[in-house]
Amino acid sequence: MTGDRIVLGIESSCDETGVGIVRLGADGSLQLLADEVASSVEQHARFGGVVPEVASRAHLEAMIPTMQRALEKSGTTLDDVDSIAVTAGPGLAGALLVGVSAAKAYAAALDKPLYGVNHLAGHVAADTLEHGPLPSPCVALLVSGGHSQLLLVEDLAGKITEIGSTIDDAAGEAYDKVARVLDLPYPGGPPIDKLARTGNGCAIAFPRGLTGPRDAKYDFSFSGLKTAVARWVENRERDGLEVPLADVAASFQEAVADVLTGKAIRAVKDLGVDTLVISGGVAANSRLSGLAAERCAAAGITLRVPRPRLCTDNGAMIAAVGAHLVAAGAEPSGLDLATDPGLPVSQVQIL
Ligand code: KG4
Ligand code: ZN
Repeated sequence: MTGDRIVLGIESSCDETGVGIVRLGADGSLQLLADEVASSVEQHARFGGVVPEVASRAHLEAMIPTMQRALEKSGTTLDDVDSIAVTAGPGLAGALLVGVSAAKAYAAALDKPLYGVNHLAGHVAADTLEHGPLPSPCVALLVSGGHSQLLLVEDLAGKITEIGSTIDDAAGEAYDKVARVLDLPYPGGPPIDKLARTGNGCAIAFPRGLTGPRDAKYDFSFSGLKTAVARWVENRERDGLEVPLADVAASFQEAVADVLTGKAIRAVKDLGVDTLVISGGVAANSRLSGLAAERCAAAGITLRVPRPRLCTDNGAMIAAVGAHLVAAGAEPSGLDLATDPGLPVSQVQIL
């Protein structure tokens, strides 16, 4: 269609090789054409966490086949691509380099503009692929394996401000560590979510970190919760008592969802906005989205949560940030684009 532009997105910051293809309409609308992901998670499972060298090698092997699948699914060819977006940070240094090198090669070969973008902005932008443009401003709760942040989002192409973050473990990290204590596989989120459905979330009163009257209102802490779960299980085992796994999982999950939704809703109210977006891998959690829906409905807040597939790492969310930058007329990054493993969320693009 005339005026439409095709934006390709490449993601390789952690253990998912993602290629997404988005059509940016002349009216600024986004249409998701393809979202292909190859995961190396099974290669990391026995280590209980992502092994950076293994992840980098897996990206190298998966990049071209994933690109080919995405092009096939979208019914486009490389000649149709108008712009290329790639995760330039934050993430694992070696893993980021694979995606950025691939994106540079495609940009140079096709003579198309390259946009080095922020992975965290991508998690928020994922929601625009499902629910359309975000109202400005809105609050985003970003909960993944490496991050737990509250953000004020004014413009996905440039103005994202962190208003709170975790002072220790990320929410997803707490899930992964508690899963280990409960002898559940890595990554811990999905099996805990499943087990918790058969347990009682009120069975054990696990601590709610940083919720005292003098604590930072918008910051999180999950390390004490993780330790409390480990101690509780150890004590039961020491006393020769059976560990009620489903109740432990449900009570842990309740503590996480309670704190995340409580603080997010407080931020929405304090900042006087009307929309909360929850994204990142942990947003796929059934209790987090369920409790957020209940509490947002009671407070008159519009809740937006992308479907689980768009919550976890993928290339479509990177294409979405690229499309927002293209629509805003942003300057492309140079072919000398560098990666930044510690890129702050406030920097949506690296030039
Ligand atoms: O966003 P993501 O795919 O990768 C990062 O950027 O980190 O998030 C991965 C994290 C893992 O810690 C995983 O355990 C968690 O998201 N996760 C979940 C669920 N699905 C994935 N946590 C809770 N409930 C889930 N259903
Ligand atoms: Zn992520």
